[in-house]
Amino acid sequence: MSKDHLVIFDTTLRDGEQSPGASMTKDEKVRIAKHLEKMKVDVIEAGFAIASVGDFEAVKAVADSVKDSTICSLSRALDADIERAAEALRGANSGRIHTFIATSPIHMQYKLQMQPEQVIEQAVRAVKKARNLIADVEFSCEDAGRSEIDFLCRIIEAAIDAGARTINIPDTVGYAIPEQYGSMIHQLITRIPNADKAIFSVHCHNDLGLAVANSLAAVQMGARQVECTINGLGERAGNASLEEIVMAIRTRPDIFNVNTRIDPAHIVPTSRLVSTITGFAVQPNKAIVGKNAFAHESGIHQDGVLKHRETYEIMKAEDVGWNANAIVLGKHSGRNAFRSRLVELGINFESEAELNQAFVLFKQLADKKHEIYDEDLQALVSDTKAASAEERFKLVTLEVQSKTGETPVAKIVVSVDGKEQSAEAEGSGPVDAAYKAIEQIANSGTTLELYSVNAITSGTDSQGEVTVRLEKEGRLVNGMGADTDIVAASAKAYIHALNVICSNVARKHPQESAV
Ligand code: KIV
Ligand code: ZN
Repeated sequence: MSKDHLVIFDTTLRDGEQSPGASMTKDEKVRIAKHLEKMKVDVIEAGFAIASVGDFEAVKAVADSVKDSTICSLSRALDADIERAAEALRGANSGRIHTFIATSPIHMQYKLQMQPEQVIEQAVRAVKKARNLIADVEFSCEDAGRSEIDFLCRIIEAAIDAGARTINIPDTVGYAIPEQYGSMIHQLITRIPNADKAIFSVHCHNDLGLAVANSLAAVQMGARQVECTINGLGERAGNASLEEIVMAIRTRPDIFNVNTRIDPAHIVPTSRLVSTITGFAVQPNKAIVGKNAFAHESGIHQDGVLKHRETYEIMKAEDVGWNANAIVLGKHSGRNAFRSRLVELGINFESEAELNQAFVLFKQLADKKHEIYDEDLQALVSDTKAASAEERFKLVTLEVQSKTGETPVAKIVVSVDGKEQSAEAEGSGPVDAAYKAIEQIANSGTTLELYSVNAITSGTDSQGEVTVRLEKEGRLVNGMGADTDIVAASAKAYIHALNVICSNVARKHPQESAV
């Protein structure tokens, strides 16, 4: 029996980006979108175009450069949002406007302060408006997980009549339980008279750790689009994880009567890229993409796997891209090899000068490290882009003295708005000393909320990748830096975070303001 197609809708660049500190630049979004396109994701939600000029530009850049996936922009059920989304999507081969309004009694009463009838009216107006601008319109009932089923049936029927071709049922607050959520999807599909004119979609948050289970229960009950993110990134406990959904469906064809188009070989490289760019490390025991996901510790398991792999393995590590960690370039690789590998990774430089600068950094790294992996290239490109951006703070030099039994001292030179300033500080360790020296110059008034170091690849010559999270006046930002010297990586990460906090642009959050 032929299987239905399950649409994979990735919202890493929109809902994933709503995780505090996970904001991405336009360029970073394009890099991730290119990976998603290669993975054959059907729909990429690239952002919330009206949030800020930067968000608009990012959606536009993704729409202009990704041609094999549908590109989507979120919009509230407001004319201005919908017009902005349509404008950002103008260059897309295939574009979608995703408009939403809250439907639960609690959201309608306290957030929207609207009567249910007004909500239906506004939803219909928004869908019609969007359909006048674009053929592909998705409508979401925010907080559907806590909405009344009779009301959902009414608003969804009206939205389909108005032209919505995808109907999304978000469990916005992660409240649903698989059996109940699956039954809700089943009721909607069977009760709504025009349900056959739309694809029913699910969008689950992970507050109870059930986002993937809820999404899969809904697929069994007829949902044919799943909204998810790489690494399960997303607000609070995150969204349903793309890799877990896709691999559950592939691994259990006996249970799921659907196929996806996803090429799983791109899963691990994309997971790493998202982690590098956002600074959100993947926990080692995370299914599919965690470092331990395919590691067998116990002797009994190892013995079984060696004798016959399927004794303990239900998936192959290489199928999801684990062996993609192959050496790609080395000390003797030339500029052309460097450039073509970057092109394969979907990385473009705006100018030859920027490419040259990256090549110089590549040569320096290859001298220290000999074997260069894709992950090294991604980190190097992030560093080059950060260095060439017009940023307030730039690291010029760093010198650290650290000896057993003595207090470490850091001397640093940082360029601030083009003028070099130096400082010297002691600390409990070399990183602490470097951060104190930077703060003498920056005097930023920020609080360090998180500091973490990860090895990008394996071996002691690996680059250390440092993530720093800073807080100022309630705003959280992440900064990343990579270097074979982890004190230098730490300084780069701190300076990166300072630059992000300085470029403080006001952004709208789609769910915070009343329609
Ligand atoms: O969780 C949610 O309800 C959302 C909607 C805006 C689709 O992200
Ligand atoms: Zn969401």
